[in-house]
Parts: sequence; C-alpha cells; structure tokens
Amino acid sequence: MTTRAVVVGLGHYLPERVVPNAEFEASLDTSDEWIKLRSGIEQRHFAAEGETTSDLATHAAKKALAHAGLGPNDLDAIVLATSTADLTFPSAATMVQSAIGMTRGFAFDVQAVCAGFIYAMSTANALIVSGQAKRIMVIGAETFSRIMDWSDRGTCVLFGDGAGAVILEAQDGVGDTSDRGILAVDLNSDGQHRDILFVDGGVSTQTTGYLRMQGKEVFRHAVEKLAATATTAMQSAGITSEDVDWIVPHQANIRIIQGTAKKLGLSMDHVIVTVQDHGNTSAASIPLALSVGVERGQIKQGDVIVTEAIGGGLAWGAVVLRW
Ligand code: COA
Repeated sequence: MTTRAVVVGLGHYLPERVVPNAEFEASLDTSDEWIKLRSGIEQRHFAAEGETTSDLATHAAKKALAHAGLGPNDLDAIVLATSTADLTFPSAATMVQSAIGMTRGFAFDVQAVCAGFIYAMSTANALIVSGQAKRIMVIGAETFSRIMDWSDRGTCVLFGDGAGAVILEAQDGVGDTSDRGILAVDLNSDGQHRDILFVDGGVSTQTTGYLRMQGKEVFRHAVEKLAATATTAMQSAGITSEDVDWIVPHQANIRIIQGTAKKLGLSMDHVIVTVQDHGNTSAASIPLALSVGVERGQIKQGDVIVTEAIGGGLAWGAVVLRW
C-alpha cells in the first residue's frame, strides 16, 4: 500500500479591482496591443488599499474548506507559498490559521517566488507521505502590486494579485499510476541566475524594494527549464505526454506557456490558460488556474495533470498528479 496526497477541495479569490491593460496607457508609453501581443495578458486584479496577502489567502482557504466539506480543525497543517507576506513575521500561514479559526496543527510559509506553489505542494506531499500530517491546506497567495515599480513598463504591466488554495488528504493507493493524488515531484534551483529576476530590497536592507527583471533572459531560461522539469517529473511518475489530460502551467506569459506545451508535444487543447484574466500572480497562479479549470468543467476527477513553474532564484519545478 502506498500513501498518496489527494486533492479533496480547492478554492480561489481575486481582489475586486480589475485593471485592464488600457489603464496603463495613461501613465506609461505602452498599449493594450503591445501587452496582449507580448504576454497574452488582458487584465489583472489589484488588492485594495489595506488588503493584504493573508486576507486574499483567507478568502481562498475558506472556499477550499467549504468545497471539501471540512472545518478548520480538520486540517493538520497549512503550507502557504508567498513572496509578499503581510509582515516580516509571523508567517502569513499563521495569520490564515487564526483567521479561519484553526486552533490546532501547524502553519508556515514557503518562499520560492513563482515556483512557490510547486515547492509548497512538494513539502506538503512529503509531510503526508512520511505520516507527519494527514490533511494539509496548500495555499499560493500574493500581492505583487506592492512591489511594482510603476515607472518600469517592462515589469509593472505583467503582474497581478490573487490567491488559490487546495486541500491535500492522505489516502491509500496501490502504488502505480492509476492512483489518485501526487504521483511525482521535481524541484530545481540555480542561484547563479539570481540577478535576472529579483527584488532590490528586503529586511536586511531595511527597504521593501521593487521587482527587477531582465525579461528576455528569464524568457530564454523558461521554456527549456519548464519542459525539462515537466519531463523529469513525468518520467519519475511513469507516464508520457500521451497520458496527460492537462498541463496547468505557471501563468506568466502565453508565449512561454505555448512554447513549453509544444516542447512537451501537447496541443493547447490540453493547457489551462488564465493569464489573460489574472496576469502573473506568482505563487498564486497555479492554484488559481486549477480552481478556475475545475469551475470551467475542464478538470475532472481521474484526470492526469502536470503543473510546472519557474521564477526568481532561479527556482523551478513540476508536480504530476491524478485529480
Ligand atoms: N509596452 C511597450 N513597450 C515595451 C513594454 C511595454 N509594456 N515593455 C517593454 N517594452 C519595449 C522595450 O523597452 C523594448 O524596446 P526597445 O527595443 O526600444 O529597447 C521592446 O519593447 C522589446 O522589449 P523586449 O524586452 O525585447 O520584449 P520581449 O519580446 O522580450 O517581451 C517581456 C518582454 C517582458 C514580455 C518578455 O521578455 C517576457 O515575458 N519575459 C519573461 C518574463 C516573465 O515571465 N517573468 C516572470 C517569470 S516568473
């Protein structure tokens, strides 16, 4: 018998304010057409003044609990992926723990920027497989609007705010690819590329800083590394592209999403795409896309899903699971 971490509920939340591309035309030398053509993004959501990452995460967490038919104390742990926590400490995860009324277990944040949700899923999977926890809420939540340099047209038009949450539960499997749940994980990072995507501030410098990016360089690494990590994870799960129902990629840029799907030999009919509506929400983008994919009726129980992401670090990885 093999213990598997199976998704038993999920939910997402987007802040009320929708910002279409055209809104940037008033303050920047840019256009709706340029943004759409180069990135696929049409709009994004921005958190209201005073609305924090843990607020967005709490909304998503409550929806996931309702979707699963569970109460807060049915959870053993919360693992929250973010690079934009409310405070230096405590973790955003403990803030969510208190906000949803969870009075047991443990909660902590994971920081791997846009790959954060993949790292958090991997961590939660390891906790479940090792028997340390039976039910874990994995959240990706971000307010990247707070680290944008609004005068940098190469970055500020690309990102948005949001949150998504999934609940993983320990279930018995037989140990082959017919099992529901996480079948394989692949994680990678290479700090040599830290300068192509970073925030030029932090606690030690006593500033918040702004996101800085060499877009072309990041693009160059993205397709190749995403296809490689997805392939490694599929091989370790014992599946091929032909077995995949859905790729649920990190939603950074439609051209990266298309390029990666092509390299994996899958048509866009097998890809969940939300980048046009959400922009790049960093660690929130995959759980948002999973939740929207289920809402749209695209993702169904039993489907084989490959999720993959890359971001600052560089850090990248993939998770293969059966829904
Ligand atoms: N509006 C209009 N023009 C813009 C612009 C904007 N918002 N942003 C940049 N430009 C300009 C540049 O200044 C440049 O002008 P120049 O040739 O006069 O110098 C021109 O457009 C081309 O810029 P370039 O950076 O070569 O464009 P690109 O095709 O590489 O597209 C990105 C830029 C950022 C969309 C693209 O590189 C990208 O998506 N990279 C990956 C970023 C990413 O996904 N990061 C997150 C990973 S988690």
